[in-house]
Amino acid sequence: MSLEPHYQNADISLYLSDAAEWLEQLDAESVDLIITDPAYSGMNRHLMLGSGRIVGEYGARGTERWFEEFEDTQSNYRRLLAACQRVLRSNSHLFIMFDAFSLLSLGPLLREYFEVKNLITWDKTHIGMGHYFRRQTEFIMFASKGRKPLARRDIADIWRFRRIHRAKYPTQKPVELFEAMIAASRAENETVFTVCDPFMGSGSSAIACMRQNCHFVGADIAERALNLSIERIKHMREHGTDPLQSATAAAENQKRFWEHQTQPDTFD
Ligand SMILES: C[S@@+](CC[C@H](N)C(=O)[O-])C[C@H]1O[C@@H](n2cnc3c(N)ncnc32)[C@H](O)[C@@H]1O
Repeated sequence: MSLEPHYQNADISLYLSDAAEWLEQLDAESVDLIITDPAYSGMNRHLMLGSGRIVGEYGARGTERWFEEFEDTQSNYRRLLAACQRVLRSNSHLFIMFDAFSLLSLGPLLREYFEVKNLITWDKTHIGMGHYFRRQTEFIMFASKGRKPLARRDIADIWRFRRIHRAKYPTQKPVELFEAMIAASRAENETVFTVCDPFMGSGSSAIACMRQNCHFVGADIAERALNLSIERIKHMREHGTDPLQSATAAAENQKRFWEHQTQPDTFD
């Protein structure tokens, strides 16, 4: 590919780029799993009040935009999905996150490119801000390119992970959320496993890959995100700890999630 990575080590390559443009330059069928959390513009435009002030969690720090948004028109989204479909190996999975607004406006387009298997609800366990009901959930569409069974059959489709409180990066997600996606998809014999996130933000999916011994390729359009991810990855490599998430909170999230999956009544 013609783009140079801004950061690279044996297992991780990070790029400063628009998601679709970047994916279009990756080799076809070169990644084993896509896990991503795009910054949809639809919800925020929808929530604008007359003054242009954005309500809810997104606007809590004022009227400024927290980060670049992906201009989520149907044609842009189709371009993104086509690019995801091209880079994903045959018989592989994709997890893509949605808020309630984009789920209804863009979610159906996924069927044009992937086999949609299920919709996972992320229950953040605590209510957040919100206009017309305070938000406690987001959604994750689970889809495949071709056929691949899940690596685990004991995982329910409601995922309870406490959201990050006072995150350093806006909309930073718990690393455990991405670890669950990897655990659900990666088969035991897939010892070398490359994960891709074209909207990586603060690099939570990259940290999940480090914890799970996967390779990672990621991009973000914002320099601030890229720099934060690089610092975070370097810190994790040098000290073995995640500087953006408390180890105690992460361990509690893991415990709550995996205990829930092994309850006997989840097997009937
Ligand atoms: C919801 S955030 C991802 C947060 C991430 N999951 C985390 O835990 O930190 C979405 C990211 O998409 C980036 N973004 C927006 N438009 C983009 C585009 N066209 N291409 C690539 N990244 C983009 C934003 O800069 C933002 O960092």
